[in-house]
Amino acid sequence: MPRIIATDRDGSVKEFDADPGMTLMEALRDTAGLDIAAICGGSCSCATCHVYIPAHWAEHLPAQQADEVELIEFLPAYRDTSRLSCQIEITDALAGLEVELAPED
Ligand code: FES
Repeated sequence: MPRIIATDRDGSVKEFDADPGMTLMEALRDTAGLDIAAICGGSCSCATCHVYIPAHWAEHLPAQQADEVELIEFLPAYRDTSRLSCQIEITDALAGLEVELAPED
């Protein structure tokens, strides 16, 4: 199971092992117990699963689809490294992934 290194909004860091096949949102919320609202349940319509992922991980992530881009680029806390964690499936290629929870908008 790939190990994920998550930085919470208070700066605390939590390392945990995530099940391949889950989404990153589910892993952060259900496995790590972090405060991810995920109001839409992962259907890419709420942006309450907003995270930052360092640019050097981009090649290992699924490409952003148009609906994710449209939703995320207008968030007040948007950065170039913003992603919606419900749109990222955990795979073994993500072992060691660093992710930071974005502020709640
Ligand atoms: S959980 Fe709603 S957009 Fe990701």
